[in-house]
Amino acid sequence: MNFDKQHLWHPYSAIPAERENLEIISAHGCKFKLSDGRELIDGMSSWWTAIHGYNHPELNKAAKEQIDKFSHVMFGGLTHQPAIELGKALLKLLPKDLDKIFYCDSGSISIEVAMKMAIQYWNNLGQDQRNKFVTFRSGYHGDTLHAMSVCDPVNGMHSLFSESLPKQLFVTRPEKKFNQSIVNEVEALLKRDDVAAFICEPIVQGAGGMRFYDIKYLEEIKKLCTKHDVLLIFDEIATGFGRTGELFISNKIQPDILCIGKALTAGYLTLAATITTEKVSNTVKTLMHGPTFMANALACSIAKASIELLEKSNWRENVKRIEKILLTELKELEQNKLVKEVRILGAIGVIELADNLDISADISANISVDVSKLQESVVSNGVWLRPFRNLLYTMPPFIIEDKDLKQICKAIKSAIKNY
Ligand SMILES: Cc1ncc(COP(=O)(O)O)c(C=O)c1O
Repeated sequence: MNFDKQHLWHPYSAIPAERENLEIISAHGCKFKLSDGRELIDGMSSWWTAIHGYNHPELNKAAKEQIDKFSHVMFGGLTHQPAIELGKALLKLLPKDLDKIFYCDSGSISIEVAMKMAIQYWNNLGQDQRNKFVTFRSGYHGDTLHAMSVCDPVNGMHSLFSESLPKQLFVTRPEKKFNQSIVNEVEALLKRDDVAAFICEPIVQGAGGMRFYDIKYLEEIKKLCTKHDVLLIFDEIATGFGRTGELFISNKIQPDILCIGKALTAGYLTLAATITTEKVSNTVKTLMHGPTFMANALACSIAKASIELLEKSNWRENVKRIEKILLTELKELEQNKLVKEVRILGAIGVIELADNLDISADISANISVDVSKLQESVVSNGVWLRPFRNLLYTMPPFIIEDKDLKQICKAIKSAIKNY
């Protein structure tokens, strides 16, 4: 473990690490086994990915079958059945106009590709001044530089990289209740002649604050994008594949460009995709992007198997079941004076702790709610959660059993009670 501490950088962490990271030796279903013999129930789905839990026999089988054929070949000039089969499976899940797929190696890269796609689209229409993006405050779209430029300008690390980031156009973050003035802000910016696209995470803002908002904003913004001839990009990387109770919000409101990732491979391997319409692809023509591991065959095979599993599982019922338990178990926390709000949507449960806990808006300044204290407490109750800033939240695998989900809720309540 000393090697880990001294030599391995972990997300948003210093090296050497201040604390030891827990070592996982195996994972099955919704449970992790630690090197010290303890077992933890996973309430995080490894950052929105492991929707079917860990070590799933059907996903393992898909991986093993593909590995015995080949794991990866370059996608330049070559193709393969795993990429084709996954493409066909994805098209069945999405609105019929979204049918041109660009496979990417991670969520952040799929955002980069979406932004490049939008810029190339306008270039080819002779409008190369259209290179700015309009977005909501409190968003999160990834950690590469252009993706970061559309993350929240306060908590999205802009201050650390301000000289290196392209300047984008921000509007007030959307609220639970529809507020026309925010849509008016959007319209004022969409009228400019330098805007390439509006980009957002539909209905749930994830890492930027775990907030939910009224779909009416998207209905209105879609109309405005059409009216002012601006592209609409949806980032469904975190919320896609059923997490909110809908498979994709894009099936209700169709964007011009859609980014998916995370649960695409059910947490087995890194793979994402940027998907667009013929109108965009015909204008863009040659998209200037081509990562080495594009359409990795092993990842595509697992993703295809995961979609099949999702379709034959009763995921919608499972998400409803999870939502109901989270509501029953966690809503009572709103009575606790440390809690500002409890938010539940689909298989997402969020406890926002009160502002008077001296919350820092600056992610780099480390967190002023004592996140490690909360984390130690849930771990001592046999649960794995990873709180950040003033947020203690869970998005468990869809297959979680009632008793394990109740244990997660119990650990959350106990962590807050004993804070
Ligand atoms: C909404 C959203 N977009 C993009 C990303 C970036 O994806 P990745 O971490 O795979 O680069 C994330 C990751 O948390 C995300 O939640």
